[in-house]
Amino acid sequence: MGASITPKTNGPLRIEGDFKLVDMTGKECDLAGRAAISLCRCGHSANKPFCDGAHGKAGFQSDCPARALPPPAPKP
Ligand code: FES
Repeated sequence: MGASITPKTNGPLRIEGDFKLVDMTGKECDLAGRAAISLCRCGHSANKPFCDGAHGKAGFQSDCPARALPPPAPKP
């Protein structure tokens, strides 16, 4: 079983399941045993990459129902 990622309506990306969070160097974040986290997608968190609830005060709005993407462009 892998991870599930849910774009919460007007809020963060909720990550649950079997996942790890790493920085740009590949170093793993210590999540202190958390099995689920929320990552900011509004840009207003003071604790990036984590959501701190600032999306509410900022009035962030986004609704992302599931949909199909077109096939990827062929690589040259
Ligand atoms: S999504 Fe919650 S602070 Fe950005």
